[in-house]
Amino acid sequence: MFIDLLRKRRSIRTFQDKPVEQVKIDLLIEAMLRSPSSRGLNPWEFVAVQNRETIEALSRAKQHGSAFMKDASLAIVVCADPERSDVWVEDCSIASILLHLQATDLGLGSCWVQIRRREHDEKRSADAYVSDLLDLKEGMVVEAIIAIGYPLQEAPGHPASSLLTDKVSYERYGRKA
Ligand SMILES: Cc1cc2nc3c(=O)[nH]c(=O)nc-3n(C[C@H](O)[C@H](O)[C@H](O)COP(=O)(O)O)c2cc1C
Repeated sequence: MFIDLLRKRRSIRTFQDKPVEQVKIDLLIEAMLRSPSSRGLNPWEFVAVQNRETIEALSRAKQHGSAFMKDASLAIVVCADPERSDVWVEDCSIASILLHLQATDLGLGSCWVQIRRREHDEKRSADAYVSDLLDLKEGMVVEAIIAIGYPLQEAPGHPASSLLTDKVSYERYGRKA
């Protein structure tokens, strides 16, 4: 059942020194390309990076929260042309989460690295840094990078007892079951 995948899903930030097989990369790409998007406009584009030096450079995109990516075997940069859709953020987020879930289903660890609205340093946004590094087309913007690889350590899924059931109302806000 799909819920079993969600029950074991975690963000994984430590990776084995082992490449992701091409057959798995193809499935990851297929999962992203099957994402729903508003009005079917598909404003996203993806850059799959396996080159070690490039991944290391991507891991320096921000001061916090991206360094762990240096050990990933694969980094998929999720970017978009904002001119194509006013809800490109939602569309990119859906593609990113489907990628994260597909990776989990393939026995791969993965973690979202936020790029949009994050800074590389005082002078440059993380978005501009990644755009320069990958020669993105003029006007393209970067939402996130999904770091992927074989997990070094398994992280247990969140126990049912930790779920924030208080966040849910029924029929009216605040009405609990
Ligand atoms: C929109 C978004 C942005 C995130 N950005 C980062 C990030 O930049 N660096 C990072 O290490 N984790 C990032 N994460 C992963 C979260 O920290 C993680 O999902 C959260 O701590 C819950 O842990 P879990 O995914 O293992 O349940 C991001 C997750 C989301 C959904």
